[in-house]
Amino acid sequence: MRAAYASALHPDQPLRGLTVGDLPASPAPDGWVTVEVRASSLNHHDLWSLRGVGLPPDRLPMILGCDAAGVDPDGNEVVVYPVVEDRADPRGFSLFSERHPGTIAERLAAPRENLIPKPAGVSFADAACLPTAWLTAYHMLVTRGRIAEAESVLVQGAGGGVATAAVALGVALGKRVYATSREQGKRERIAELGATAVEPGARLPERVGVVIESVGAPTFDHSMKCAAPGARIVVCGATAGHRAEIDLRRVFAMQLEILGSSMGTPDELAALLRMIEEGTVRPVIDTTFGFGEVERAFERLASGDVFGKVVIDHLA
Ligand SMILES: NC(=O)c1ccc[n+]([C@@H]2O[C@H](COP(=O)([O-])OP(=O)(O)OC[C@H]3O[C@@H](n4cnc5c(N)ncnc54)[C@H](OP(=O)(O)O)[C@@H]3O)[C@@H](O)[C@H]2O)c1
Repeated sequence: MRAAYASALHPDQPLRGLTVGDLPASPAPDGWVTVEVRASSLNHHDLWSLRGVGLPPDRLPMILGCDAAGVDPDGNEVVVYPVVEDRADPRGFSLFSERHPGTIAERLAAPRENLIPKPAGVSFADAACLPTAWLTAYHMLVTRGRIAEAESVLVQGAGGGVATAAVALGVALGKRVYATSREQGKRERIAELGATAVEPGARLPERVGVVIESVGAPTFDHSMKCAAPGARIVVCGATAGHRAEIDLRRVFAMQLEILGSSMGTPDELAALLRMIEEGTVRPVIDTTFGFGEVERAFERLASGDVFGKVVIDHLA
């Protein structure tokens, strides 16, 4: 079957190990079903995999992709929850493309309980944006960050998939949203989403109750300085460096909470789908590519120029 997979790992030039071609479909384990994938989306996770982060060479070739929406064997339209229980993994779970083949393929084997009904009014492309980036942003804001207790939120590096989702969701939840981006063009688009866009490191007009961190070392000090007393600094990633310097005096004096966050729950994914069906919020899509253009899609993600999600339309 047609698939985009990691055939080699290159820490500095991840796209060198990306291959698009035919691979045999793995047999579905007991209790798993096969989904015909209609749309998938890329995540920074796919670039980490191609760099060999979280994907050792003995698991190659590995089909990439964590996110999919498609049709199950009974003809139902579904979104696939991307977290698979996994006792062999120290986290207790793995994502598609880590131990089990990923979503950027004609077909995906997934545990039956991971299939969530896709409302008819939500497109396959919009649905395919949700399982990783949007679910992570929702879990960071609502569950870990307790956004209901806050008036305002800061999102760092706001052009990416998780970050644009956090901006859009923060606005939809009625909060004042500030967001940093390195690029003027992205700052203009953040403003169109209803947030206040600033340059990285800029002083905000107020201290915020929640900070959404996925950039890491270059922005972490700013995240700490923007936090109000008792604020939650929620960290899901470290795209630009994982060794940040922390002034511990600020942590205790301001009673800050620094919280790790990974993915989210099936119920949270279902809640997100409802928000999109009701029109409360709409996934931010940077570009949609046909399956024949998967390499271009990866180049787009790797360029760092994205604003929102890069989607693959599997029927185009
Ligand atoms: N723990 C979890 O469950 C989980 C889930 C999803 C993602 N993640 C992690 O979260 C991170 C973001 O994922 P994603 O898929 O949203 O990535 P993405 O779409 O590639 O976005 C990355 C964003 O980070 C910012 N950035 C990159 N390099 C930077 C630098 N040197 N300085 C400042 N900002 C920089 C950019 O924002 P600007 O260009 O606007 O400045 C860019 O748009 C990744 O590290 C990923 O592994 C974790």
